[in-house]
Amino acid sequence: MPKVTINGNTIEVPAGTSVIKAAQLLNIPIAHYCWHEGLSVAGACRMCMVEVEKMPKLQVACNTTVTDGMVVFTNTEKVKTAVKWALDFHLINHPLDCPICDQAGECKLQDYYMSYGLYTPEMNQPKVKKEKVVSLGDRVVLDQERCILCSRCVRFTKEVTKTHELGIFNRGDRSQLATFEGRPLNNNYSVNTVDICPVGALTSKDFRFKQRVWFLKEFDSICNGCSTGCNVTISYNQNGVFRVKPRVNHDVNGFWMCDSGRDIYKYTNKEFRLTQVVERSEKLGGDAVRGKPVALALQEIGRQLSQVIKNKGAQSVGLVWSGQYTNEEYSSMGRFFKDLGVSQFYHWKNNEKDFDSFDGILKRGDLNPNTAGLKKELAGLKSWADFEKQVSPLEMIFVMGPENFGAYSDLEENVKVIKKAKEVVWFTACESSLLKEFKWLIPAKSFVEKSGTFVNSKGLAQAFKAGLTIVPDAVSLEEAVKGMQESARMVS
Ligand code: SF4
Ligand code: SF4
Ligand code: FES
Repeated sequence: MPKVTINGNTIEVPAGTSVIKAAQLLNIPIAHYCWHEGLSVAGACRMCMVEVEKMPKLQVACNTTVTDGMVVFTNTEKVKTAVKWALDFHLINHPLDCPICDQAGECKLQDYYMSYGLYTPEMNQPKVKKEKVVSLGDRVVLDQERCILCSRCVRFTKEVTKTHELGIFNRGDRSQLATFEGRPLNNNYSVNTVDICPVGALTSKDFRFKQRVWFLKEFDSICNGCSTGCNVTISYNQNGVFRVKPRVNHDVNGFWMCDSGRDIYKYTNKEFRLTQVVERSEKLGGDAVRGKPVALALQEIGRQLSQVIKNKGAQSVGLVWSGQYTNEEYSSMGRFFKDLGVSQFYHWKNNEKDFDSFDGILKRGDLNPNTAGLKKELAGLKSWADFEKQVSPLEMIFVMGPENFGAYSDLEENVKVIKKAKEVVWFTACESSLLKEFKWLIPAKSFVEKSGTFVNSKGLAQAFKAGLTIVPDAVSLEEAVKGMQESARMVS
C-alpha cells in the first residue's frame, strides 16, 4: 500500500491508485473534465494538473499513479496558472450560452471559471460555429458548440453499454461529437451520458427547460422501476418531482441507472395520481362519488370487512399483492388480515413471461422494487394462476396494485380478472379509467412520500425516507391498517 502526501495530508492507497483518486479520498478537489471514476482514463482535457515533488513538469493527476512516498501539491501558483489557461483553451470556441443553457447552475465550465479562471478573454477571432440542437435519439439532445471533447460520453457507450453509438469526428477545431452514420443513441442507458457530460453539450429531452436547477431541492431514494433497486437522487419543488438521477452505490448500480428508471417520477406527480377517495355503491346509485375523507372511508371499509367475515367467513376475503410496497407495509397489513383469519394472499407480478429476465447491465424483468421483501414478509403467497381459479367465489378483495401502472403491460387483462370479485377495495397511487368500476379506490402514497425498506433481487435491504408530500390524502398501507383496525375490531 503506497503512501502519498497531498497538500500535506498523507494517505495509504491500494497499489495502482491514481493521484486524482487519492486526492478524492482526502476530499481535496482537483479540477477535471475527462476523468470519471466509472470509465477508463483518457487524459484528454489537461485540467487535472498537479505539481509532484522531484518532477520538473506538472503532471496530469488522472493518469499519474501514486508511488510510495510521493509528495503532491494541487494548490500552488504554478498549478493554478496551468488550470486557468487550460480552461481558457476549452472556452476559446465555447459559445456564450450560459443564460440559455440548461446546464447553468451545475456546469463545470462555470464552476471552474469561478474557482480557477476569472481572466479576461483575449481572443479576438470569431468562434468556430457548429450545429446546435442535434437530436441524438429519443432522450438526448446535443449542442456541438458546447462540447469540450472530453470523450466521457463516447467512452460510456464503448465501455458500459458497448453499443458504440458515439464518436468524435474530424480534426483540430473542427472536431465534433456525433453518432456513427447517424445511428441514434437509443440504448436504455443513454441519459447517463447527460449526467456525465460536464458541460451543457448533452441535455435530456425530458428535463431540459423544465426547471432551473437552483429552484430544485433533492433527497436520496431508491428507484422503484425494477428489482435492482438503483440508488437515486430525486429533484423536486413545490410543483412535484422533476428529475431522477443515479447515486453511487458500488454494491447495486455503480454510477449508473437505466432510462426507463428515470421515468418513475412521472407516476408520483399529481397529474397521474388518484388524489381522493372514490366510492361506488348501490346506495349511491352506482355512481362514483369522490372526496370522502380517507379516515371515514377506511372506517367504513373496516366495518364492511368485518361484516363479510362474520356472514361469509374469512375464506371469502382475498388479498392481491404487487411487489411495489415496503416491507413495513407488507408486514403491518399482512398481520392485520391474518389476525382476522384471512389467509388467501395472491402474488400479482408484471408480465410473467419476462419476469426473470435481465439485460446484463442493471435492468431486470421484475419491474417491482420489492418482490423479495414481499416473499419474505408474506411467505406462502399463492400465484396469479391460483387467483384466476379462485376469484369468483370471493366476496371482498383488497388489491395492493402497482404504483407504477406503466410497469404492468398486461394490466388491462388482469383488471378483468379482478372484476370477477364482488367487492373490490383497491389501494392505488395511480389514477386510471381501468379502475372505474371498483367499489373503493383509496389513494395510496407513492414511494417518494413514504419511508420504508425495499429488498432488491440480490437480497439487499435498502431503507429510504419520505422526501415530500404530493397527495395530502394518500395513505401508506400501514396508515390504512390503522384506519381500518378500530372499526374492524368493533364489529368482529
Ligand atoms: S458531449 Fe459532453 S461528455 Fe460528450 S465529449 Fe462533449 S463534453 Fe464530453
Ligand atoms: S435498472 Fe431498475 S432500479 Fe435501476 S434505474 Fe432501471 S428501473 Fe430503476
Ligand atoms: S481529468 Fe486528467 S486530463 Fe482530463
